[in-house]
Amino acid sequence: MPSGRSFPSTVRRCIALTALLAAVASAQTPGPRQDFRQNCASCHTIGGGALAGPDLKNVSQRQKREWLVGFIVDPNKALDSGDPYALQLLRDARGQRMPAIPRMTEARAAALLDMIEEESKLAKSEFVGLQLIVRPVLPQDIADGAALFRGDKPLQKGGTACLSCHTVGGLAALGGGVLGPDLTRVFERYKDFRTLGQWLSAPPTAQMSAAFKDHALEPEEIFALAAFFEDAARHRREDDSPAPMILILLGLGGAGVLLALFECLWKNRFRAVRAPLAQAPLIGDES
Ligand code: HEC
Ligand code: HEC
Repeated sequence: MPSGRSFPSTVRRCIALTALLAAVASAQTPGPRQDFRQNCASCHTIGGGALAGPDLKNVSQRQKREWLVGFIVDPNKALDSGDPYALQLLRDARGQRMPAIPRMTEARAAALLDMIEEESKLAKSEFVGLQLIVRPVLPQDIADGAALFRGDKPLQKGGTACLSCHTVGGLAALGGGVLGPDLTRVFERYKDFRTLGQWLSAPPTAQMSAAFKDHALEPEEIFALAAFFEDAARHRREDDSPAPMILILLGLGGAGVLLALFECLWKNRFRAVRAPLAQAPLIGDES
């Protein structure tokens, strides 16, 4: 290889690598607001009440800063040390533990606490969280949720119907997508409307945030979808319900298959009537 060409190409590669590293480094040190939105807001509000974790409004007045920084950097250490304040937090959170946040540092935690303190002084923080609809679930909500899930009812902000990437129990036979996980029991994992609703209002995961960051779900839609997921989890619908089977047949073979099916059922009915008259077992007498 001529050395005159390989040298500049090495340099070019180095420059590209440096740019890449810089991009990665800057992605790892986002501002505290973005940091909070991405890593904390799915479990904490500032002034909007408890989610999985406590409301962080005025948290700096409840506990010393040093302690809070230490806790954010390594929640397990405090939780495992038998620290009475940490144990009370754990009890209040019904035993759910705050996970260690990847690459959390003291500086990052301090910046987050400064931001939380600032936001605590406001009448309404931008991190007050989703103001969820709170009312009893009606059967219509479950039906609306199912329609939104399937895409029969379009999402108001133009989001892609959930069915293109997910399945839920009995709907699987309708051809749900497999990119995302089966959501039949998702309500059990998120435990309640508020936690699931908050999650759906700003999904923190890669694919979900890509799909919905510019197409946020409306509070009514979130309520209906949560009602639908709660119902699905309660019934744990199986995939083998007969109605979707017929739809599959329709889709595949069309009327011919359906006619054959009906003919078959029809014959069996005649047999059932004729059998006692003929006093002979006709089971197995297939034509
Ligand atoms: C998966 C949920 C979850 C995430 C994500 C999470 N936390 Fe927590 N956090 C909790 C829970 C639960 C507690 C209560 C202690 C326990 O049970 O572990 C808690 C407690 C705290 C406390 C102490 C609150 C108090 O009242 O003294 C602070 C401060 C805190 N979290 C900050 C953060 C920050 C900052 C982030 C983001 C970098 C974050 N948490 C991300 C669940 C979470
Ligand atoms: C473009 C594909 C896509 C669409 C559309 C989509 N999802 Fe997802 N969803 C995913 C993927 C992939 C995951 C796994 C986490 C990730 O990578 O985001 C996921 C995860 C989830 C989770 C968390 C599951 C768990 O077990 O924690 C929920 C809840 C969820 N989606 C609900 C919905 C709802 C409700 C809709 C419709 C309003 C929807 N998704 C539409 C791809 C999608």
